[in-house]
Amino acid sequence: MYSEKVMDHFSNPRNMGEIENASGVGTVGNAKCGDIMRIFLDIDDDGIIRDVKFKTFGCGAAVATSSMATELVKGKTVQEALNVTNQAVMEALDGLPPVKVHCSLLAEEAIHAALWDYAEKKGIVIEGLKPPKHDIHEEEPAEEY
Ligand code: FES
Repeated sequence: MYSEKVMDHFSNPRNMGEIENASGVGTVGNAKCGDIMRIFLDIDDDGIIRDVKFKTFGCGAAVATSSMATELVKGKTVQEALNVTNQAVMEALDGLPPVKVHCSLLAEEAIHAALWDYAEKKGIVIEGLKPPKHDIHEEEPAEEY
């Protein structure tokens, strides 16, 4: 059911933990499954993501997508990080079962929320970045499980 990459990132998550005095922190949840994901970004003066950590209280797929998402944004510019969509995270993990797609959405939203927090603290605008959702089902039609 799960790819080897998903199992690998679930068993050996990369970048798990927190960053003290992070440049940006984003937390999102999914009210339906109750899972929560928090992403911490350390961004330097050139807008490069130097470090990233995550804390996920959630299912195995949420842990694996958090881990892969942090790997994908590390070393990137803020603008590049914005392009790390849940689709990109899923592709990097060689796919997820359809009922687990929402877990990858949590990773995308948590990164966006952390970027939003960074932009607010810095008083800057990141082009193309939308205000964070605290629940990934906001603005979404009800989904069947
Ligand atoms: Fe909810 Fe995976 S089941 S994040």
